[in-house]
Amino acid sequence: MKLWGGRFSGGRDRKFEKFSESFSLDQRFIFYDLRVSLAYVKALGRAGVLKSGELRRLTQGLEALRKKIEGNPRWARGQASEDVHTWVEEQVEKLVGEVAGKLRTGRSRNDLVATEARLYVKDAAADLERVLVEMLKALVGQARRHSQAILPGYTHLQPAQPILFSHYLLAYFEMFSRDAARLEDCRKRADGLPMGTGALAGTAFPLDRNALARELGFARVARNSLDVTSDRDFVAELLFACALIMTHLSRWAEDLIIYSSPGFAYVELADAYSTGSSLMPQKKNPDSLELIRGRAATVLGKLTGVLALLKGLPLAYDRDLQEDKAALFSGVDTTRDALAIAARVAGTLRIRPDRMKAMTQQGFLTATDVADELVRRGTPFAEAHEQVGKLVRYCADCQRTFADLKPEEARAFIPAWDSKLQTVAVSPEHSVKQRNAIGGTAPRQVARQLARAERLVKDLQRKRPR
Ligand code: ARG
Repeated sequence: MKLWGGRFSGGRDRKFEKFSESFSLDQRFIFYDLRVSLAYVKALGRAGVLKSGELRRLTQGLEALRKKIEGNPRWARGQASEDVHTWVEEQVEKLVGEVAGKLRTGRSRNDLVATEARLYVKDAAADLERVLVEMLKALVGQARRHSQAILPGYTHLQPAQPILFSHYLLAYFEMFSRDAARLEDCRKRADGLPMGTGALAGTAFPLDRNALARELGFARVARNSLDVTSDRDFVAELLFACALIMTHLSRWAEDLIIYSSPGFAYVELADAYSTGSSLMPQKKNPDSLELIRGRAATVLGKLTGVLALLKGLPLAYDRDLQEDKAALFSGVDTTRDALAIAARVAGTLRIRPDRMKAMTQQGFLTATDVADELVRRGTPFAEAHEQVGKLVRYCADCQRTFADLKPEEARAFIPAWDSKLQTVAVSPEHSVKQRNAIGGTAPRQVARQLARAERLVKDLQRKRPR
């Protein structure tokens, strides 16, 4: 079946038909197409465009088709059609005959596909939010279990200052909770109804679009027919949210790849999420994390693909827009799967506080604290910085840590060196405790962060139950 045969003579090139079809992909929209069509015929009925008998038969046909697919979800899979909209009309015609031809009165595949893609995006965003909550839960769970463990904090991947491991986990919690808010935002902006705008100029039939919006669960009616039939902002936005989630996951994966390497050994991946080598018997590789990092590249590609797709399109609808679906489905599926695995990896990670602690003894992570203590005693910070720097250099040259310094050695660089300074120099606990302003890594501050994070997870779970 073709929805546009009249103007043409002869057939299409079979190769071109295959090239242009989208049913193999957009059949994911079958239930949306049915839902939209059911609401649409109702609107046509209310507008007096369909007689009540016609409305009844079309409704029965659409309902019967829905039941048929629900009974056999794989039924459509191998079938061929130009797109999901053509296929549904074909099937309805088989069920109710010629009256099926009234289904597309005043509507176009352009407003149809724009409506269905928005319905999909709203559902997909909600779905992603649910999986994201799993990740948030795993992070707060680990933070709660290891709230006091101290991790060497890095900048430039060089040892910097001690931090609570829970503070580190909650940093990712912050990123992912912003992602959750972004998804919600995305959902809200996609929530304008395209149906009833026809191919580009609007519909010539007296449809009540507000009623149609209510029927289909849209928060509002899109105001401009040209815009709404050809705009795919909502696709780009969801893909951006996905790309950023993947970017966050990828950074986190990179951290853990490093932290799980034996040189660090701060964490150990559960066997279930690791793989071995076919050659080297001793290997335990963090493939789950590497794949997450790798798939971030895929999702980024989908986002740039869609932006490139849109940038040169003349208003209004162009067939190029059909390409958005492949990118959208792949971006959403990949992000959902990566998040689900990440949540499991995070939840089952073995934490090694002993290793973290041991590493904070090396690398002079308390150097700032020694300088700060001198500042408290009246030394200008620049002077304190210089003195501690020289002491570090001395230690590094003779391969010592602050812990194995004799007082007289230290005094050669820091004349005020005493037992208090010695304690400060070897105590990561003291270091973290000092950072007690809001947002700092002091246990008091992190406990507040953690409590807030747990509340947020509860709120999100209440909003989006599994
Ligand atoms: N399959 C198309 C898409 O995904 C919708 C059909 C609109 N086609 C058209 N020639 N106006 O965008």
